[in-house]
Amino acid sequence: ILQEAGRPFLVGGCMRTPYMMGSSPYPYYTSCAANQFNAIVAEYEHQWDVTEPSRGQFSWGPGDMITDWTANNGMTMRYHAMLWHDALPGWVKQIQKGEDLMSALQDHIKGVCQHNRDKMKIFIVINEPISEDGSRERDYIFTSFHGYDYYSVAFSAARQHCGPDAKLYMNEYGIEYGRGTKFQTFLQLVKTLLHRNVPIDGIGFQGHYSDGKGPSIQELGEAMKKFTDLGLEVMVTELDDGLSQPDDQNIVKNQIQSFVDTIGACLKNPKCKGVWHWAVDDNLSWRTTFDNRQSPTLLDKQCKPKFTSSELESVL
Ligand code: XIL
Repeated sequence: ILQEAGRPFLVGGCMRTPYMMGSSPYPYYTSCAANQFNAIVAEYEHQWDVTEPSRGQFSWGPGDMITDWTANNGMTMRYHAMLWHDALPGWVKQIQKGEDLMSALQDHIKGVCQHNRDKMKIFIVINEPISEDGSRERDYIFTSFHGYDYYSVAFSAARQHCGPDAKLYMNEYGIEYGRGTKFQTFLQLVKTLLHRNVPIDGIGFQGHYSDGKGPSIQELGEAMKKFTDLGLEVMVTELDDGLSQPDDQNIVKNQIQSFVDTIGACLKNPKCKGVWHWAVDDNLSWRTTFDNRQSPTLLDKQCKPKFTSSELESVL
């Protein structure tokens, strides 16, 4: 992938602390990651319920283990994520007033930045702001108090405390399908926020596909261009493709096509900074528990890439 890029390009994977330790059931976990990637993100260790389990008490042990491993291996680290509806600590969900919620958010982001700003420059500030069906903004505690603009509070705090050179991202799934409803809703939100001078630098396309039904290179390319035309950068942040029939050669072929099309769309847009996949290899992926899918990653259980550089070249 790097050979095809011809520019600084991030090829990332996500890691979890239990599998990095001596007793890991996956002894080649760290060597696979070190050999295949130049960038790492923590799979869960930087989520709010891990890093600030009680108000004002920060806990950086697990996150730092991954960050330090990444730095020791000379790789780039990304922060995922400052705010996600699915990782809110209980104390946040119990907050009763909008004012108090906004100050908890600001304080959280300040703590995240103070601890991490010298260790990494790419931060997912808000993750998954759109409703599951794609028709509107997500209904959750952060949209439940009238008159509070949590996007502006979050991104402004991140700019202030993580610094002017931090790259601040909003991340979403399903927006890879640039001709779909969710993409339109998300694009409209981003335009509105930019109009209000909310300091967003980039958009993350998660890229969680199923059964080889990822977007075509054209559809994803058009979607990325809509954001890069607005002056934003983009990345693919969580690529995987879970298969319900991993032995069906047709589906496997489509899976490889989805992967090369996604990587190809990013390589073709000079403002696409890289592609991260949401695992190290097929030995361990959230998809096997989340929706019972198999063989979801770009690397098989022997850490071998599932496609060749000529397959990638053929879409470029
Ligand atoms: C998932 C992790 O992979 C799981 O291990 C965890 O239990 C839940 O979160 N979109 C995201 C990621 O932005 O944070 C999610 O990661 C997958 C969906």
